[in-house]
Amino acid sequence: MFAPIRPRRSVLYMPGSNSRALEKARSLPCDGIIIDLEDAVAPEAKASARDQVAGVLAQGGFGRREVVVRVNGTGTPWFDADLAAIAQIAAVGAGVHAVLIPKVVDPETLRVVGRQLEALGAPSSLRLWAMIETPLAVLRALDIALAARDPVARLAVLVLGTNDLAKESGAQILPGRAPMASWLSHCVLAARAGGIEVLDGVWNDFRDLDGFGRECAAAAQMGFDGKTLIHPSQIAPCNEAFSPPEAEIAAARALIAVFDRPENAAKGVLQIDGRMYERMHADIARKRVALADAIAARG
Ligand code: COA
Ligand code: MG
Repeated sequence: MFAPIRPRRSVLYMPGSNSRALEKARSLPCDGIIIDLEDAVAPEAKASARDQVAGVLAQGGFGRREVVVRVNGTGTPWFDADLAAIAQIAAVGAGVHAVLIPKVVDPETLRVVGRQLEALGAPSSLRLWAMIETPLAVLRALDIALAARDPVARLAVLVLGTNDLAKESGAQILPGRAPMASWLSHCVLAARAGGIEVLDGVWNDFRDLDGFGRECAAAAQMGFDGKTLIHPSQIAPCNEAFSPPEAEIAAARALIAVFDRPENAAKGVLQIDGRMYERMHADIARKRVALADAIAARG
């Protein structure tokens, strides 16, 4: 009924220059990793990090984890070589799933990069993820997300960059994130309008897992599919916050069963224990069950 769901609850950044972190990633329980060649790598280390990352990707071993590489920005001196290195690895079928493009502010950038990947021989399974991390990007999030309708753009996921947003906007990052809440929700809506997924930004204070847990719960309530992370300690609480609770799934299965009863086949709406349910609620329930099943299948 639904396209196979790939859980993206927890997606961990790691510097491409940090071989210890790259090695550890092969055994961490995150749904995905973002190997960073951009902000987490100093300018003088860019070329060596790219070579190291290419070697690590060719070696593989990341199992069911989705592997994403954040390249340097399209206007930087490193972009072309970054993209070529990833395309080359993807072309031989090695395990890299997406390229994360920093500071996207328009849909055309994605099409240009998509055409570059095509010319470099990257298979169409290599997708693009777009960082939304500037005021212009938030304001244009809908146009950017709608690029997903054009296969040339390869767009699959929006990723919020809240540290850059704070820097560029003057808004503060506070517990509860009131100053940014409307921007975050706007990006969730934009992603849905484009039929794609959306990941929340990072929580910097990685020793404060209580505050982090609260931010994950709020992000899940807003509709984010998952959150980007900076430290392994954040993975377990993040997975929990973005996994449908057992009680919810039990109730969802019960609701689906009621709608599936022959006597309810012609009913658009019914009540259970004094609460109204329409078929859309059964649709939501099916989607949540499919997500829970996909998570359970990861073991
Ligand atoms: N990915 C994989 N492993 C990581 C990791 C990450 N992001 N962050 C830490 N680890 C590993 C460390 O290598 C260490 O492993 P070990 O004890 O087995 O050797 C263990 O987790 C504990 O790390 P800890 O000592 O608590 O942290 P640290 O001082 O080594 O690193 C940071 C702290 C913030 C520098 C590091 O977490 C980091 O680089 N995070 C990602 C930053 C990034 O990519 N930013 C760009 C996007 S926002
Ligand atoms: Mg950034």
